[in-house]
Amino acid sequence: LDSRISRISQAMDIYPNFPKPGITFIDIFPIMRSPDVFSDLTDLLVDHIKQTHPNVEIIFGLDARGFLFGPLIAQRLGISFAPIRKAGKLPGETLQASFQLEYGSDKFEVQKCSAAKGQNVIIIDDLLATGGTMAAAYKLMKDLEADVLECIVLVELENLNGRSKIPGKVFSVIKRND
Ligand code: PRP
Repeated sequence: LDSRISRISQAMDIYPNFPKPGITFIDIFPIMRSPDVFSDLTDLLVDHIKQTHPNVEIIFGLDARGFLFGPLIAQRLGISFAPIRKAGKLPGETLQASFQLEYGSDKFEVQKCSAAKGQNVIIIDDLLATGGTMAAAYKLMKDLEADVLECIVLVELENLNGRSKIPGKVFSVIKRND
């Protein structure tokens, strides 16, 4: 196993029953307390993308924690970053998609100008739980007629089987079963 993965895994804090009973909250922010661990994570993701998807043109980050990693990785790869945001935040012409969450429901939005037809994109977020959030982002990319090479998450809650909702490749750095 890549030693970077165990350092990243150990840095995260786990909070059972937050924000509701039965939900286990994975706090990824402690990774950023240590510049070395944060470098481990960005290096690992950059290495993975360079090796498996050298033709990627745009990294799309999901509101909110996909914004923490997406721009950093896009910068390192020398490619574009673009946001997928909660509805009502982005100006200009947009497309929308609704989704269910572990707790509640929400709506995502993307600017039409953020990708051209046929562009190669990767979507990034911190967590794959039920998969509803990532599936909505994937649908928005399809509506833009972009080509989704892969969906990348830092943590995958395998027992919730979110992967089955995504009609394309999923890469997760850490897999948990809590
Ligand atoms: C979390 C997480 C993912 C999503 C995954 O976001 O950052 O975006 O849940 O859940 P799913 O796979 O079950 O759809 P959260 O709902 O906490 O929203 P936030 O980004 O506004 O904090």
